[in-house]
Amino acid sequence: TTDITTLLLSRIRDVADYPEPGVMFKDITPLLADPAAFGALTEALAEIAERTGATKVVGLEARGFILGAPVAVRAGLGFVPVRKAGKLPGATLAQAYDLEYGSAEIEIHAEDLTADDRVLIVDDVLATGGTAEASIQLIHRAGAQVAGVAVLMELGFLDGRPRLEAALAGAPLEALLTV
Ligand code: PRP
Ligand code: MG
Repeated sequence: TTDITTLLLSRIRDVADYPEPGVMFKDITPLLADPAAFGALTEALAEIAERTGATKVVGLEARGFILGAPVAVRAGLGFVPVRKAGKLPGATLAQAYDLEYGSAEIEIHAEDLTADDRVLIVDDVLATGGTAEASIQLIHRAGAQVAGVAVLMELGFLDGRPRLEAALAGAPLEALLTV
């Protein structure tokens, strides 16, 4: 276990039975409130952006905005938001995906990506992989390449990784922590 792993783990709070009974919620707000931990996280994700040759960072609403925006600035890249449906005013591409109960839809402003872009997708948690998979589909539909997916933590007891690896077609899935 490296120092950064210990630092990040120590700043994630387990909240039992939230948002519903039987679920252990991973609360990252203590990490965000600690400048050393938030800085180390930003640095680690920016290093992935540089290593994968990313030209843009896409952050997934909402927690992926908090993590992804400073990564983009640190790496000297533009930031593009993937938003929950109905929040973007321009010409959007939309992608629906299944949730445990029901479905959700996310959108992107297609004009913010070009065929020359290589996109690093940033989010806090990889759970079932549904959100990240839909984002990969949006980026491909926008005509850009996916440089990889980078998350703070991967929930290893779910099947997010095999699902995403199929969609990533060789691009890396980087998780700083597996919990
Ligand atoms: C959470 C989390 C990830 C996603 C992971 O977002 O932040 O974005 O779920 O789940 P998945 O891998 O099963 O798709 P959520 O939409 O719950 O909330 P947020 O707006 O606070 O980020
Ligand atoms: Mg989220």
